[in-house]
Parts: sequence; structure tokens; C-alpha cells
Amino acid sequence: MTRDKTSDESAADRRGFMTKLLAVVCGGLATLPPVLAGVWMFLDPLRRRGAAATFLPVTDLASVPDDGIPRQFAVVADRVDAWTGFAAEPIGAVYLRREKGSDTVEALSATCPHAGCFVEMESQERCFRCPCHNSKFTLDGGMVAPSPSPRAMDGLECQVAKNGEIAVKWQNFYTGIAEKVARP
Ligand code: FES
Repeated sequence: MTRDKTSDESAADRRGFMTKLLAVVCGGLATLPPVLAGVWMFLDPLRRRGAAATFLPVTDLASVPDDGIPRQFAVVADRVDAWTGFAAEPIGAVYLRREKGSDTVEALSATCPHAGCFVEMESQERCFRCPCHNSKFTLDGGMVAPSPSPRAMDGLECQVAKNGEIAVKWQNFYTGIAEKVARP
């Protein structure tokens, strides 16, 4: 035979339930910040990969003689591959050139717009040539027909600081298409 609960017992049950509910809510709130921090860290490489291109220091003015001949320089930066970071790694190469008496530096990506091989300088012919499929470019990056490359070499923005430091806005572009389109 069962007995109906008294009002005191019912009130005690409700208090117990509310205490447990409060404990669950407080516990959940306490674990939220570390969980959100973990999610942020997990997404961080993806976030940085989508970041806009930045100017990277490459060399200084004294290293680029004003004779109109392009010189090749490595572009070095911290790199993130998936979730692994690599400090100060070569991520590409550029050709820099400047004309007689000028402090203006022109920068070209050394990546061939055809399929991404590295373009080489041919000093004797005074031109660029790609060793993969023989695309040929003038020293200012213009395409020499016939070439399999669909466009001229990709120019890059370049800044020369007061102290002579040269920085290049490093970007990769899609290969195999006529338009110069930056990759994210
Ligand atoms: S990758 Fe340069 S010509 Fe094909």
C-alpha cells in the first residue's frame, strides 16, 4: 500500500531537483571556455591560411645592382602545413631588378604561370626560360610567343624602405589560365 507524499517531502524533492539542475548548468558553463579555446586552436591554421597576403622582407637595395639584370631571391616565411608550424622556411622565389640610377625595384614571381615550375634566367640570351615546357619571357616578364604559358610572368608589389630593405607582397596565383588570379 502506497502513501501519498506530504507537501514537505514534495518541496524537498523540488529543491533536490533544482540543486542538481544548477550543478549541471554551472558545470557546463565552467567547461565552455576551454572547449571554445580548443575549437579556436583547431581552426587556427585554416583561419591563417585564408589570411591576406603580406609584405615579406626579401633583401636590401645594395643586393640588387642597377643594371637591369634580374636577380633571384628566396622568399622566406613561417609556414603552417595543416596543423604543423615551420619557422623561417623558403616558400617561393622572386626576381628583382632595377634600372640604372633608379631606386624603384620591380618584382616578378619565379613561378611559371603555365604549370608552376621555377623560371630560370638565361644571362646570355637576356631572357627568362622555363625548363619544364620551354616558355620564354623577356627580362621585364613579358611573354615571348610561341610559349605554352597562357600569360606573362606574375608581377608582385614591392616596397623599398628608407633603410633600403626590400619587401615583396608574396602571393601565389593560379597557373594554366590567362588571367592573373591570386590563390587564397
Ligand atoms: S611549367 Fe613553365 S612552361 Fe610549363
